[in-house]
Amino acid sequence: MITSRQLYEKLKNIRMGSPFCEFTEQNCKNLLPTIERIETLKREKNAIILAHNYVAPQILYSVADHTGDSYGLALKARESEADVIVFPAVRFMAETAKILNPDKIVLDPNPNGGCTLADGITANDVKRLRTEFPHHTFVCYINTTAEVKALCDTCVTSSNVYKVIELISNDKIYFLPDRLMGENVKNYLQHNGIDKDVELYDGTCYVHEEYQPENVDQVRENYPDVEILVHPECMPEVVNKADYVGSTSGMLNHVRQSKHENFFLLTECGLTGVLESEFPNKKFVGTCTTCRYMKANSLDDILNVLEHPTFLNIIELDSEVQKQALHCVEKMFSYLGD
Ligand code: 13P
Ligand code: SF4
Repeated sequence: MITSRQLYEKLKNIRMGSPFCEFTEQNCKNLLPTIERIETLKREKNAIILAHNYVAPQILYSVADHTGDSYGLALKARESEADVIVFPAVRFMAETAKILNPDKIVLDPNPNGGCTLADGITANDVKRLRTEFPHHTFVCYINTTAEVKALCDTCVTSSNVYKVIELISNDKIYFLPDRLMGENVKNYLQHNGIDKDVELYDGTCYVHEEYQPENVDQVRENYPDVEILVHPECMPEVVNKADYVGSTSGMLNHVRQSKHENFFLLTECGLTGVLESEFPNKKFVGTCTTCRYMKANSLDDILNVLEHPTFLNIIELDSEVQKQALHCVEKMFSYLGD
């Protein structure tokens, strides 16, 4: 188990201005009894904790067994031999773990962990669209409910959306629910001379849709040597100005390999915190914004869910939905050779 000193060493460089990111050695000491109890329960229940890059850093750096982007964590869930998977993130990620592991107990410590993308489209919407576009291959972003995945042909994540759509042999695609990501896909296809008819749903991420091209211009003006890293949920006018576009783990790997010293990230604040902790000699400039759903997870919630999970925490899926959604998720892995 981590000591309070080791935890403090991990958290002390996190500077972004969120209340989740102010750490003293005393704070870390205060967290230890909760961390210790969680570790004991993990051993007793053969449980693992998969935590998304955006959740509070005291979770990422204390009790998480694996951290990463939605693709990396889905892979970890798929290969896990634990009996219980606790998934501090958002609901659709915990649901994806359950789709991949119908016989395991999957626990969501934060049952209110919505996502404006996943909550923006229902299975009935997809049923209606499938009648309207009968010849299109339906591609859903992983940020969707299990019921929506069950009605789609393949799923994608931010780390593979361009590649998977390029590999689909049908030249008619319906991409849902992220309109901005879909517009970025269309630009990518056009730029690479790939002719596909891509229809889009009108969902957005409330965090990423806020970033404006002027934010990028302003930062470039003040920091001429800055590298600008952008999530593909941002609008094309922002994405087109970026030096790197990719998933949260893609951005982390990019910073690891980059020779640059200054970075500006247009994505949720948690990732900037992780980078500040991992790369104390690099500088992360500019603002960041938080996802209220991701930040609703706490160490106390994780302890509660391991001690006394309620029906709201335990992911249950209809068996037909689970089977069809598994087909959709596995199709993505098959395109990528995983
Ligand atoms: P990643 O898969 O890139 O981590 O993204 C998940 C997400 O919800 C981004 O807002
Ligand atoms: Fe959903 Fe946006 Fe939050 Fe990601 S940042 S979980 S897309 S609301």
